[in-house]
Amino acid sequence: MIVPRLDSALAYGGDYNPEQWPETVWPEDARLMREAGVNFVSLGIFAWSRIQPTPTTWDFAWLDRVMDLLHAHGVRVCLATATASPPAWMARLYPDSLPVTADGVTLHFGSRQQFSPSSPDYRRHAAALVRRLARRYARHPALATWHVGNEFACHMNECHGEHSVRAFRAWLKNKYKTLAALNDAWGTAFWSQIYGSWDEIHTPRRAPFISNPSQLLDFRRFTSDAFLELYRMERAILKRATPEVPVTTNLMAFFKPLDYRAWAREMDFAAWDAYPDPALPDEGRHWSAVGHDLTRSLKPGLPFIQMEAATSAVNWRELNRPKPAGLMRLQSLQALARGADGVMFFQWRASLSGAEKYHSAMVPHVGAERSRIHDEVRRLGAELKKLAPVAGSTVRARVAIVMDWEAWWALELEARPVRLDYMATLHAVHRAFYAQNHAADFVHPEADLSGYALVVAPVLYLLTAKGAAKLDDYARRGGTLLATYASGIVDEHERVVPGGYPGLLRDTLGVWVEEWAPLGARFTNRLRFRRDRAARSAAGELSCREWTELVHAEQAEVLATFTDDLLAGRPALTCNQVGQGRAFYLASGLDAAGWDALAARLAAELGLEPPLQAPRDVEVSERVDAEGRRHVFILNHRHEPVTVSLAALRGTDLLTGRRVAKRIRLAALDAAVVAADGA
Ligand code: GAL
Repeated sequence: MIVPRLDSALAYGGDYNPEQWPETVWPEDARLMREAGVNFVSLGIFAWSRIQPTPTTWDFAWLDRVMDLLHAHGVRVCLATATASPPAWMARLYPDSLPVTADGVTLHFGSRQQFSPSSPDYRRHAAALVRRLARRYARHPALATWHVGNEFACHMNECHGEHSVRAFRAWLKNKYKTLAALNDAWGTAFWSQIYGSWDEIHTPRRAPFISNPSQLLDFRRFTSDAFLELYRMERAILKRATPEVPVTTNLMAFFKPLDYRAWAREMDFAAWDAYPDPALPDEGRHWSAVGHDLTRSLKPGLPFIQMEAATSAVNWRELNRPKPAGLMRLQSLQALARGADGVMFFQWRASLSGAEKYHSAMVPHVGAERSRIHDEVRRLGAELKKLAPVAGSTVRARVAIVMDWEAWWALELEARPVRLDYMATLHAVHRAFYAQNHAADFVHPEADLSGYALVVAPVLYLLTAKGAAKLDDYARRGGTLLATYASGIVDEHERVVPGGYPGLLRDTLGVWVEEWAPLGARFTNRLRFRRDRAARSAAGELSCREWTELVHAEQAEVLATFTDDLLAGRPALTCNQVGQGRAFYLASGLDAAGWDALAARLAAELGLEPPLQAPRDVEVSERVDAEGRRHVFILNHRHEPVTVSLAALRGTDLLTGRRVAKRIRLAALDAAVVAADGA
């Protein structure tokens, strides 16, 4: 159980903001929570100005009463440190604590998150607040976990103010020790950028033309570290007061500004906020799946918590569509299917004022009685109790997709052959495996890859020598590696590895790349498989997207060639036998059909089987516990009924309590969670 002391093992609840309401509403909140099966709430995330109305006055009495009330109703608390948004007095007393953009614009008080991560005054006051909270509630029976800050860097994700400039210089001094080393790493001989003094170095403010890419990359690292320092500062205070209470914060999965791998090391369990857009053609189901899989991968072998979601519409998109009846439930079951041990929502009760009053909630404006949404909230709470046996188990993936924040930052710097979108590419690769119900993890290139049958490294533009050695070792020991175009180009300083791309992976892949031929929107090409030349089937030819390359196959065998453009007849897909394993190189981007075909081909060759052969739009995911007990989630994303063949799977559907075998019929947007017999 990652959240301690829950009555039923899965966590269920949401952000609870009682400070927005008269105290007379609280007893009803607590009663409704109990009736809805809520056992866990995130409390006080934006309550700093209520707790500390002036720099020298504190008011915890109201929070004491809320904690006691929740405890009396069996609701555990994920107690926030309330540092996410400083009060007005902070901006008044310390205007230099406000963040500054790259254009020199100060972001003022009046919304939220208006602090520079490097402001000493913000840090000092935040630490004082956390110390008091930790001391006061350390032994409170309602306290289950700590919630540090909120969505760090969500709105304000870099700062160029005076404190940040100073902190950036200190960070650089610590990293490079000498100016000569920095000048070398940043290649400052180019465009007369050589620094003669540390004081000449600034955060990368708005400049006339393309900025120094190595400086930009270091600034990204510094910024992620600066926010992480805040988290660590709070965590250290909390751990001193309550070493046994888990500490976490809510991440946002594919969130570029923060390297969540470094963050996850400091978190007792991972948590993320999932806001799929119901207006997407698939209602956001793949967007959610890929976010769950990344979050799960941040703490291998551990469940995670979906810390926030919307019960229906959000209020911050151009078009805020509600979720049709049943979708919130299905999405919640999807989170569990992919490794979550709890589902939480923003927020418990819909606000009547403020910036988010048109955001859906667990108790909507109409109240609990006549509400479709609240009915669904209650039903979900009851169902989660039935799913308690799933808690603690995990998803075991055989496919890994290499994902590295540093590669992301570097790939998307300015002045590239064409704009490549790292996240979109990773999503496209993941989607192909997802559509075929093959579980996939996201891994760092330097991680232990030995458990995976297939490792895909898409557009891994920045790669360290250690990362390259790990990938090489994985393949040599019998693994199957698929690396793509635009990989292994630069080292950690954004310096090209000379001697032909993909630099350090050349020997592993048995190819070298001489030139790039990006396609953009105007140019097209196709990739034709050699052995399938006669067939001309869909699998025999794939459409290229975005990018192609002039490849020289050295040791590698050429499996497919380009049909047109500058590269007609040249290698497009190669395979190198290396040690006990194989290393494929794909020299082109692919569309969805292309990735589907390639994923299917590799899965078939490797004998990878999904938990069930399911019809289209039926998601299947399996969780396995330490004793080998299996729970198979079958999720019907169609708005019509579907029949799924269960093959050899037999067991009990925990949602209905019925025995299932042979086949199962699921209504529109319905699901089954089969506790498999045997094992
Ligand atoms: C999250 C945030 C919440 C709330 C929610 C609305 O990003 O953590 O505080 O703003 O979005 O969707």
